[in-house]
Amino acid sequence: MTTNTSTLAIHGGAPVRSIPMPSRKAFGDEEMRSLLEAAQYYRDSPVDLPYQDHFEKAFCEEFVKFMGGGYADAVATGTASVFVALQALDLPKGSEVILSGVVDSGPLNSILFLGYVPVIADTAPGSYNIDVAQFKARCTDRTSALIAVHCAGEALAIDEIVDAAHASGIKVLEDCSQAPGAVWKGKRVGTFGDIAATSTMYRKSLMSGSSGGIVYATKEKIYQRALACADRGKPLWRDDYNIRDPRTNLFPALNWNTDELSCAIGLASLRRLEDTIARRTRFLDSLSKRLQSESQVCRVYKFRGQPSPFFVPVVVDLEKISCPKITFANAVQAEGIDLNPHYAFLVTDWQYALPYLPADTAIPNAIAFRDSSFNLFVNENYGDDEVDDTIKAILKVEACFAR
Ligand SMILES: Cc1ncc(COP(=O)(O)O)c(C=O)c1O
Repeated sequence: MTTNTSTLAIHGGAPVRSIPMPSRKAFGDEEMRSLLEAAQYYRDSPVDLPYQDHFEKAFCEEFVKFMGGGYADAVATGTASVFVALQALDLPKGSEVILSGVVDSGPLNSILFLGYVPVIADTAPGSYNIDVAQFKARCTDRTSALIAVHCAGEALAIDEIVDAAHASGIKVLEDCSQAPGAVWKGKRVGTFGDIAATSTMYRKSLMSGSSGGIVYATKEKIYQRALACADRGKPLWRDDYNIRDPRTNLFPALNWNTDELSCAIGLASLRRLEDTIARRTRFLDSLSKRLQSESQVCRVYKFRGQPSPFFVPVVVDLEKISCPKITFANAVQAEGIDLNPHYAFLVTDWQYALPYLPADTAIPNAIAFRDSSFNLFVNENYGDDEVDDTIKAILKVEACFAR
């Protein structure tokens, strides 16, 4: 078979990009140094690696500074951060918790395990994120809380959502896992609601090694309850609390503690988070501008606020192509561009979850958006070459499949 530059890679042509997209190196020199520092610290210390000690405190203090004040507790996983934050809200048993329909399964499972009824909100038209309208549409007199997910790195219009929720006595848990450091109206996401949860697992912009999470609150009382929820109901903030005496523990809770080595890595990752966000945003902005002027078929999803890009949805005008969206996305991917052709994090796609959801659960906006878009991966090492190659790949595929 002969290959030339216009033959698509899925049809046997040479791909636009023959080298892999840059890897992220989230565990880089700074993270390595911080980990070794922690290892040395405990090698020299008479105390073996404990819970809630030097590096966790430093990680949490730095996170609080990053957020502009408040209180933080690092935990074992992102799912644990949601679980702990939700338990800390102390909602009436059997009450309804609204959850965005585009989310990881951890938050849904946390609602179920804590004995609440999950009610799934659709997203805004043309988005993976909710607006206040989709939240209000799901409120009933049994609603006790909303888990507001800042999906893909976009900041929700969270002030309006929190105002509407609080006006009805509904608590708000912000899930910032995909958007750490994103800003809405001058404030970081996570600072608007009653409590926030953030995954710091290895794929997230802020990562603390393989796994991790952070619970954050602006108010001390709820933070203290979260601390107890994260470690068997222990009132750890009390000066007279004796760690060897569980008789004064407050209520049943599990152990979601993180560890010192993970927090040492998280500390280094946090120290470069601003830079991580800035570099990802530069890629996003440059790609958006170029695609807008050069493509007849695709556009980059317009993020609100100041995003902390996690992935980049590219919207395909289905009227203008002669193939299914997935074929189009697969063809771009085959040109050497890393992407997810079809996002699977829509709650209603999960067979296991359906028996737990109300019968009228439907998320047509989320499905329509997913069915007309694909998600480009992004990391802080993407630069002009990756913008160029992504544009070339999309235009090459477009030239073949445009109607
Ligand atoms: C929005 C959201 N919430 C929660 C989680 C759960 O985090 P983890 O995988 O660290 O348990 C994720 C993770 O992937 C996520 O994207």
